[in-house]
Amino acid sequence: MIISVIGVGYLGAVHAAAMAEIGHDVIGLDVDEQRVTALQAGHAPFHEPGFEEILRRGLASGRLRFTTDYADLAAAEVHFLGLGTPQRKDGFGADLSHLHAAMASLGEVLPARAGAPTLVVGKSTVPAGTARLLADRVERLPGVHLMWNPEFLREGFAVQDTLAPDRLVYGVSEPGTPTADEAVRRLDAVYAPLLDAEIPRLVMGYETAELVKVSANAFLATKISFINAIAEICETVGGDVTDVARAIGMDDRIGAKFLRAGVGFGGGCLPKDIRAFVASAEEHGVGEALGFLREVDAVNERRRVRAVELAREMLGDLRGRRITVLGAAFKPDSDDVRDSPALDVADRLLQAGADVRVTDPQALANAAMRVPGLAVEPDLETALAGAELTVLLTEWREYRDLDPRRAAELVAVPRLLDGRNVLDPQQWRRAGWEIRSLGRAATAGAEHLLPA
Ligand code: UDX
Repeated sequence: MIISVIGVGYLGAVHAAAMAEIGHDVIGLDVDEQRVTALQAGHAPFHEPGFEEILRRGLASGRLRFTTDYADLAAAEVHFLGLGTPQRKDGFGADLSHLHAAMASLGEVLPARAGAPTLVVGKSTVPAGTARLLADRVERLPGVHLMWNPEFLREGFAVQDTLAPDRLVYGVSEPGTPTADEAVRRLDAVYAPLLDAEIPRLVMGYETAELVKVSANAFLATKISFINAIAEICETVGGDVTDVARAIGMDDRIGAKFLRAGVGFGGGCLPKDIRAFVASAEEHGVGEALGFLREVDAVNERRRVRAVELAREMLGDLRGRRITVLGAAFKPDSDDVRDSPALDVADRLLQAGADVRVTDPQALANAAMRVPGLAVEPDLETALAGAELTVLLTEWREYRDLDPRRAAELVAVPRLLDGRNVLDPQQWRRAGWEIRSLGRAATAGAEHLLPA
């Protein structure tokens, strides 16, 4: 099939390459010329394991190309919308301006198919009600139907999550009507290889599909803040949050995933999505229903403040003290620093007057752009040299595998704050380190790595 993907940011670029990978003819469009040029040259504009391989394979096969010109989309039977919906500058709601601008431009090329069946498929995360609004506009054109098909990919696993998702969710105007059934059949044809692999596919109304996505992210954020709230209690009454998480996670009803306590969640999705969800509920007059999400956000914010407090407990006055921060990305295997807890804590330490040096395997260019004046050092050993305090904030494999004896030789003082609870305190103490972590008493021992 001939497919277009409008908006080739993180989600769109991976989706475009994945659709070429399963045999479609794909054209990706973005208004950002630099991004289009990079993608067309086979270069990933972000760090994502496995993405460049499928990008290059798609380009080499001739089934994948990129453009900035909407006129190039005229022949596509299916248009996916992969546009970003960032947090509004003037509040907590979602900024839908990219989506609306793209729909206006798409509206000009849709008539070129002269009534032939054409599917527009939204993948962006949007407040409930958005799809119906867009459908009212676009379905006036003969042959055009709109579906909402939210994307659940995680950064670092984007290719795998796109080609083998846990489920496919199809939002239609009115489930069960002949028009909806026809749209479902057309989207099934796009995803045929995934459906052949028995990936479950759920059909529901627009609003429900939109809510599935924001509910999933709200639930994940809540789970993380729940365990981080318990971490706060552990710090006060003298418990160990990693043991609490391990023990409660063994109950299938709770599940062990997303119970890793530490500096909390960040990135381009969870923080802005929970805020947009609250804003949208308030607009509908049901803000009370999601009041707890404000608390989820507040717990998350407090963990960042607590990390700085703990650094102060360990060092005393932070002014002029040499602190090495391990990690800038919001999570490992990503160069994304959007709302990154690691970068935020590094910035707070800097604002407190510390002499901060940040290292990260992938995210330093983005970190330096985000926090001007931040000292960055790509080489791990050079970054550790002379540190009076080492603070682990993103759990990259190379930091988890650090040899405490070798690291002790590099730093000025073997003193470490584990902001992600990934190091074995006993092993580090045996190597001469003073080690503290979030959610565990100063003397905590056993280390239990939890699944991601
Ligand atoms: C998330 C959702 O997982 C994904 O389904 C959705 O499509 C987009 O948002 P992503 O932002 O890539 O994906 O990251 P995720 O792996 O969910 O992690 C989010 C944040 O939570 C990270 O900062 C991570 O460090 C933090 N986290 C995660 C914890 O602090 N503890 C955990 O137990 C799990």
